[in-house]
Amino acid sequence: MHPAQSPIGVFDSGLGGLTVAAAIARALPHEHLMYLGDTARVPYGTRSPATVVRYAKKNVAFLQGHGVKAVVVACNTVSAHALGGLTDGGSTPTLGVIRPGARAALAASRGGPIAVLGTPGTVRSDAYLYAIHEHDPRRAVHQIACPLFVPLVEEGWEHHPVTTTIAREYLAPLAGTEVDTIILGCTHYPLIRHVIEAAAAEVLGPDVAVVDSAHAVAEELAALLDRTGLARPSGQAAHRFFVTDAPDKVGEVGSRFWQAGALRLEHVDVVDEEGT
Ligand code: DGL
Repeated sequence: MHPAQSPIGVFDSGLGGLTVAAAIARALPHEHLMYLGDTARVPYGTRSPATVVRYAKKNVAFLQGHGVKAVVVACNTVSAHALGGLTDGGSTPTLGVIRPGARAALAASRGGPIAVLGTPGTVRSDAYLYAIHEHDPRRAVHQIACPLFVPLVEEGWEHHPVTTTIAREYLAPLAGTEVDTIILGCTHYPLIRHVIEAAAAEVLGPDVAVVDSAHAVAEELAALLDRTGLARPSGQAAHRFFVTDAPDKVGEVGSRFWQAGALRLEHVDVVDEEGT
């Protein structure tokens, strides 16, 4: 089989990465996707870099074992800690979400400061700061860890008043900063984009741009596949979705993230013999 016919591997700590997978499916409708959500060990955002790297390597090994032609790390926390060295010998092209997200923010910004909302791990890593400064070393960057957003989204509280209150609380430090662009630096946050946009408008005015990396990742992936001759230019796509915890617990949450058709979750165990 020509490698172009192989699926693209996409993984996340949980189901949030389905927002990225959905953007890829829309942009590249002929590509097969193989998604892995490590729902047994989510969240990654509060764990140490060493633990995140260990988990991520298991996920990549699973996807490579299924012959994926490229790996999309659809998790900001993993992309922040471990993009290099995840694929043994660098044999499989790998794409993270931080650099595309940073580029999307710079494209949307009018030159003002940029704010990054992310998990504690992503914020502590300064990965977005470095990615922005690669393009514009002088750009002011404000980073805010928002640990409560992930459980609120998982709970389905996208429209709950508590989420609005917490968003206001997180964004309050941006008052008076002249931030013109906010990066949703976590795959869960696009589901509460409306709440974050409303809180941002209150604090920063109506012109603030709120960007996520999903669309930019899909664009970069398309370019990478073209460059490497791995694009699948025609034919119907078939997707598979794996989770590491019982699928019945997470199916409903997954459908909210995917929003691109039916979602059937299969179970897989990527934990090794020592139970790590
Ligand atoms: N998917 C993770 C991210 O984008 C958020 C959830 C987690 O903490 O694992 O950073």
